[in-house]
Amino acid sequence: MTTTKTNEATTLRSRRCGSLRVTDAGSAVRLGGWIHGKRNLGGLVFLDLRDRDGIVQVSVDPALVGDAVRDTAATVGKESVVLVEGDVVRRPPDGVNREMATGEIEVKARSVRVVGPAVTPAIPVARAKGEALPSEEQRLRYRYLDLRRPELQHNMILRHRLLQTARRFLTSEGYLEIETPILTKPTPEGARDYIVPSRLHKGEFYALPQSPQLYKQLLMVSGFDRYFQIARCFRDEDLRAERQPEFTQIDIEASFVEAADIIRLTEALFVELWREGGREIAAPFERLRYADAMERYGSDRPDLRYALELFDATDVFAATELGIARSAIAAGGRVRGMRVPNGATLSRKQVDELESLAKGAGAGGLLRLKREGSELTGPPAKFLDAGARERLALADGDLALFAAGPDRITNPALDRVRQDVARVMRLVPDGVLRFLWVTDFPMFECDAATGALGPTHHPFTAPHPDDAALLDTDPLRARAQAYDVVLNGMEMGGGSIRIHDPEMQRRVFALIGIDEETAQRRFGFLLEGLRSGAPPHGGIAMGVDRIAMLLAGAGSLRDVIAFPKTTTASALFEGAPSPVPEADLRALHVRIDGAATVTS
Ligand code: AMO
Repeated sequence: MTTTKTNEATTLRSRRCGSLRVTDAGSAVRLGGWIHGKRNLGGLVFLDLRDRDGIVQVSVDPALVGDAVRDTAATVGKESVVLVEGDVVRRPPDGVNREMATGEIEVKARSVRVVGPAVTPAIPVARAKGEALPSEEQRLRYRYLDLRRPELQHNMILRHRLLQTARRFLTSEGYLEIETPILTKPTPEGARDYIVPSRLHKGEFYALPQSPQLYKQLLMVSGFDRYFQIARCFRDEDLRAERQPEFTQIDIEASFVEAADIIRLTEALFVELWREGGREIAAPFERLRYADAMERYGSDRPDLRYALELFDATDVFAATELGIARSAIAAGGRVRGMRVPNGATLSRKQVDELESLAKGAGAGGLLRLKREGSELTGPPAKFLDAGARERLALADGDLALFAAGPDRITNPALDRVRQDVARVMRLVPDGVLRFLWVTDFPMFECDAATGALGPTHHPFTAPHPDDAALLDTDPLRARAQAYDVVLNGMEMGGGSIRIHDPEMQRRVFALIGIDEETAQRRFGFLLEGLRSGAPPHGGIAMGVDRIAMLLAGAGSLRDVIAFPKTTTASALFEGAPSPVPEADLRALHVRIDGAATVTS
């Protein structure tokens, strides 16, 4: 993927290797690049010279350059950096390589100079077709080599282009790019903070931002009207393939808006981003209310590329003697599950594996039924009379899987099962993009252990105008003006209309157990701002890494981040985190006490 056609020339080279084409035949060029591969044919030596634009073949003919230069070419190590002067020539028809963008030409060297000799690379950059990659640990340890791989160069260039597209688009919509602090106060986005001890203020700490949430709201209070930032965010949370401890958001906030304005803007931005990534997508996106998403898919970010909708079979099981179902129902729970067309073909072992996933997600187990011909098999079958069987409406070849219990337990379990059934049954179609807005999130969720209310999005999210009264009477039923944008089961972005009335903000803080004094201490600057003339405002933040990962067709965020962390939040290449000399800790008023760090 070439980035620019212009300004390739520098003092040391005239063109980039990978940008040469047949139209350049006849021109003299000076190139600089890395030795990707080498073939020594006795007399003639061929070098594959690589830079970020691609690879070009350089032929080194002793008749043209003399034996000394030929010998240099023959002995230069892989991944060494060389400067080549030569002429671009057409390859003879039988020499054309259709698999290379530069395959119709080669560069006949007039001189070859090694300017950056390389020791034997710790991991290979060039790979034969089908050759496996080194382990990810090795690749992260030698990241500077791994990043030379054309795939990763392509990913980073794509990421650059996506960020430029976002900047261009948002600028054209009147959004101002404004940076906000990295050394800051905690922003509650639901994760732990990374904290930084202060040298000048003994015993005090900065927090790295989990997002620029409070600052962007204050920028609205300050009248900037439309803000965006390519914002670095830091969250100390358990990592997964689509989570990194530091990641990047396209962060947006606007004044005098309602949810529809932010939704429209986001859709238009996504159209631009996907176009830059080579895909045309259609807006508006589908919409699903949170309550419906949970009922039909057990998830607030359902993957709509396959059906496997959940249904409620409580009434079917309520009348049976099946103990697990009856006790769950008696305790106020339900029995919900899914029909898997042709699922009867799954082996017992495969269904056992699905059950262990359900258990891993918190469910007690999975009830399973198979219909083969007119026969219904599986442990619960004997409890089901003819009427119950009819109501289940299983077709020949169906497998039905159920979980019994409160929704808060069965939803995540059935979501997990649904995803894995789709994988095992190969129900996920290639190349399909199902964008979805999930709206009408509840304002609060309830901690099952303590009964305490917490914000579903974050505590600055405004209640749905129809539900403000519920805050006093039945807060768990109050909906928020919050929206998430989901693609193929992954949350790509989330946002909300904010509370701009300080009184409402105080009420919401009170409901989630933040008293007046704590509110003042933690968020005093926001409350003051809201009291000083705050416009109605709202916004959204999108995960850049996730967008780039999907558009690059990569399997992990690590493939679209130049220097990512491992799943244990380590940086293997530079070696972080790392111990700090005792004297530095003393200067920061920090002392290591056993395994823990405390302030002195
Ligand atoms: P939220 O917490 O939903 O909202 O984050 C917005 C988007 O950021 C991405 N994201 C991540 N990407 C990689 N690694 C992570 N650890 C990670 N965590 C989040 C996701 C997510 O949808 N301030 C609010 C936004 C707002 O209300 O305007 C916020 O940060 O794609």
